[in-house]
Amino acid sequence: MTDVVELKMVGAIGVVTINNPPANALSFAVVKGMDDAIKAAMKDPNCKAVVVTGAGRMFVAGADIREFNLPKPADVPELHDMIKGIEDSPKPVVCAINGLALGGGLELAMGCHYRLIAKGTQVGQPEVKLGFIPGAGGTQRLPRLIGIGAALDLILDGDPISAEKAVELGIADELVTDDIVARAVALADALAKTGGPRPTGARNDRLSGWDATKFAEARKKAAAIARGVEHFTAAVDCVEAAATKPLLEGLEYERKTFVALRDSDKAKAMRYMFFAEREVAKIPDLPKDVKGAAIKSAGVVGSGTMGGGIAMCFANAGIPVTIVDVTDEQLNAGLKKVEGLYAGQVKRGRLTQDAMDTRMGLITGSTDFFALNGADIVIEAVFEDMDLKKEIFKTLDATAKPDAVLASNTSSLDINELAAATKRADKVVGVHFFSPANVMKLVENVRTAKASKETVATVMNLSKALDKIGVLVGVGDGFVGNRMLHVARRIAEFMVEEGALPWQVDKVLYDYGFPMGVFAVNDLAGVDVGVAIRKGQKKLYQGRRHPVLMDKVAALGRFGQKTKAGWYDYPEGSRTGVPSSVIEQMIVETSKELGITRRAFSDDEILTNYLAALTNTGAHVLDEKLAIRGADIDVIWHYGYGFPRHRGGPMFHGDLVGLKKVYATVEALHKVYGDWMKPSGLLKQLADDGKKLSEYTCPIQT
Ligand code: 3HC
Ligand code: NAI
Repeated sequence: MTDVVELKMVGAIGVVTINNPPANALSFAVVKGMDDAIKAAMKDPNCKAVVVTGAGRMFVAGADIREFNLPKPADVPELHDMIKGIEDSPKPVVCAINGLALGGGLELAMGCHYRLIAKGTQVGQPEVKLGFIPGAGGTQRLPRLIGIGAALDLILDGDPISAEKAVELGIADELVTDDIVARAVALADALAKTGGPRPTGARNDRLSGWDATKFAEARKKAAAIARGVEHFTAAVDCVEAAATKPLLEGLEYERKTFVALRDSDKAKAMRYMFFAEREVAKIPDLPKDVKGAAIKSAGVVGSGTMGGGIAMCFANAGIPVTIVDVTDEQLNAGLKKVEGLYAGQVKRGRLTQDAMDTRMGLITGSTDFFALNGADIVIEAVFEDMDLKKEIFKTLDATAKPDAVLASNTSSLDINELAAATKRADKVVGVHFFSPANVMKLVENVRTAKASKETVATVMNLSKALDKIGVLVGVGDGFVGNRMLHVARRIAEFMVEEGALPWQVDKVLYDYGFPMGVFAVNDLAGVDVGVAIRKGQKKLYQGRRHPVLMDKVAALGRFGQKTKAGWYDYPEGSRTGVPSSVIEQMIVETSKELGITRRAFSDDEILTNYLAALTNTGAHVLDEKLAIRGADIDVIWHYGYGFPRHRGGPMFHGDLVGLKKVYATVEALHKVYGDWMKPSGLLKQLADDGKKLSEYTCPIQT
């Protein structure tokens, strides 16, 4: 046995308890401890039956994901062999699922002969969310317990189900509302006398009813769940193996499939993202005793696109919010838009009318800034104009509660300047929501030069309370995400000036896994908006080569989807663009004007250059200490810009390609595109040291 597994005799029953906080994950030590404990219990003539359970609030949250990249010590059995050992035990084994049983946790439970489940807990096979399939018998034993269709649903969905549902489906035998271990010991006692082992693997009666055609259909559906990954269809293959092969062959087939998927770059990327999105919440220089203020009521200034969406985030979280706009007319228009968005959700069945009424009831409108004087935080979301925003911050400083946090949703302005316009610079921060704010998970929380640790803690906690992923960044042009996008988009436009076409670039990015390419995104957000942003950046980036095409698209009155034409044509208001001959002609003529002889770009070159621009700019962000970790940048790119999860983000991608290789690409592009591609010092240093961007940490302040 090991420290993390205990075997204790309760009368004639051996109670095996897994105690490996925080998640009771099946680490090497747990697997070894379980194997030893089960063997010891089988050997002990006084032990008539066994109960397996977990200590704390979880049963077992799965295999230990942290150990997936490590070699298994020789004396530790494979997890699936340990589970098979339980299934083959001559004495009855009862599982007391006292808390969450996920992945390998549920597989362990299914290896036991009987299962009791505590009310309020959940079980599930979430492996698909990590880029692989259940690998310790889940695809073989679950269909034997609940039938093929239900097993496929659970495995392909990945979400957990309630204890009640687990009993209804047949995963668990009984729902327990009181002391589950005591109940399990009693059952084990009874089974030792009159029952016996009941191996799941021998229960084949629910495996019938599915022929090859039905599995082919299931594979087709599974393939449609996500682009660019193979594990959903592989899960169907494994369940088909359960239905068509003897248990041991099925287990072997599952094992091979699991190992290949688990060791793939895509699964490594998804594992990395699992930990990265938990890591972002940790701020190295924030002591544990700095708790931040709880936000019980909020204010928003500006009821436009962002202000309305941000107000919805508060209402969705049950926090009362007051919106202030200049006139009743603007305010009512903003509130009406919010109401319309909620009504749409009700219409689509995503929200009940009652919930909508409750949420609308939490949103109040006013044209008087004094209406914000009860708010714990006020978020400014007015036009992107420094003078206007400074005026607003002065007014808020005079009218809001003295201890209220004042935040700006600006996407590009210097928030330190806004802080300087107030007498509470320690309470001024940025909270950069993404559009649509009520939908997008990402918020870049912008730490200003004078922001107190308390204020930082307040906004980081607020992100969590609003069910967002908050990533702490520093003040700089475009913060982190947009800064990187703005460089990569320019590189994409340069490539078009030189010979590529927008739809070729977009297809390359779509095929890589982005939901849309950069040109289609520009059409969605507004070509005119892109032009305005660039105008604002002119002074900052003077002396650099500037792409000319976006201005020309806008000059044609083609502002994107809203004008039914942009980089693409949008016939009859369709939201899917088609390549435009007008734009193609304009591009070819522009190349001529620029004295460029157009040349062919391979898809590979386009992708390499675009991603090198992202990786290098991300490294500059770290050089300048505007993000805490390389992994934080990857979280920003996944949740803010749709960087495919199975690719891990621009920093992870750079590591995968090899930083030396990325650096060489950046150096070559620097010669062509000048300072947009100025090589990052950190990129060079890590490349030389053989280290990784995705593992790099640089505290913003200490
Ligand atoms: N392995 C290693 N560590 C794990 C873990 C796991 N399976 N599950 C959770 N943890 C860790 C987290 O990293 C975190 O560590 P930290 O405190 O150092 O940051 C800690 O446990 C608590 O986790 P959360 O912060 O996520 O706590 P929550 O209460 O919000 O969520 C949870 C708990 C629902 C269990 C969530 O952590 C989760 O979804 N975990 C992953 C579950 C999973 O995917 N299991 C399948 C694993 S793969 C597998 O079993 C393969 C098998 O088929 C062979
Ligand atoms: P918008 O034009 O939709 O809304 C601005 C609102 O501010 C209008 O309702 C206007 O009446 C109101 N307003 C103007 N002056 C005011 C004043 N003195 N007092 C009170 N209200 C006033 O603008 P949008 O798109 O919502 O942008 C707001 C801010 O959010 C900008 O700083 C923008 O850069 C930023 N942002 C915008 C994103 C987007 O995609 N639209 C994404 C992220 C940030």
